[in-house]
This record gives sequence, structure tokens and C-alpha cells, in this order.
Amino acid sequence: MIALGADHGGYLLKEEIKKFLDEKGVEYKDFGTFTPESVDYAAIAQRTCMSVVNGECEKAVLCCGTGIGISMAANKVKGIRAACCSDYFSAKYTRLHNDANALCMGGRVVGAGLACELVDIFLNTEFEGGRHQRRIDQISAIENGEIL
Ligand code: RB5
Repeated sequence: MIALGADHGGYLLKEEIKKFLDEKGVEYKDFGTFTPESVDYAAIAQRTCMSVVNGECEKAVLCCGTGIGISMAANKVKGIRAACCSDYFSAKYTRLHNDANALCMGGRVVGAGLACELVDIFLNTEFEGGRHQRRIDQISAIENGEIL
């Protein structure tokens, strides 16, 4: 199950991503927003990402105007590693090296075609582990207030 969330700046992109996931037969849960009306992204990022942290969903895909604000909010949720991507290489390597569990994109930055390709590679690339796990553990340590 993939968690989807967007503010008004990412609403249309989220709707396009839903069509793509429907075609691929990928299940998702939409945490809003559900209209193009202006809405703040922080609460949407939080509730979407909470579903990943609590195990209801495997990964999150989040959209706002730039992808940046919603990624900043997502990264404040403990256990979330959100990556704001607008290119194929980053979307692939943030899975391989960062074990990112949230992909963030800007509805005013990327077109629907590219965004769906980024979602596809993000959802279908496994974390490499190894030396990268150590680095993920260090990120978690920072999250837990440890001094590295
Ligand atoms: C909303 O206008 C816009 O600021 C928001 O979608 C996002 O781009 C913030 O980072």
C-alpha cells in the first residue's frame, strides 16, 4: 500500500499519479488534499507519513508546488527519510543508498510523465544495504538526539 499526499500545488500531480498506479495495479491510500483549494502541506505530510511509520503503508509519495515544503515537513516525522526528486538518477539512488521511504515532487516542477517514471523507479528499487545501512543508522542517531 502506497500513501499519497499533496497540497493544492501538488493536487493535480497526485491525481495523475493515482491514474498511473491504477494502471500498474498498485494499491494506494490517498490522504488528501481532495480539491484544488489552497491548503497547508504540513498536516498532510504528517498524516501521510504517519501511515508509513505505523506500518499501514510501505512508502509515501508526496507532492506540493516545489516538493520542498512537503519534504521538509515529512522529514520531521520520526522514521521518515523523504527525498525531493525531479530526476531519474536521484529517485533511483535515494532508494539504493538512502533507503528513502518518501518520494516528494513538485507539481510546478515536473510534468506528469516524468513524475510517474520517478514513482515507478522509486517503488521498484531495493535498498543496497551494506555501508549505506551504517549511514542510515547515523541519520537515525541524529533523530534520537545523539551526537555523532
Ligand atoms: C504553495 O503555494 C506552495 O508554497 C507549496 O505548494 C510548496 O511549494 C511549498 O514548498
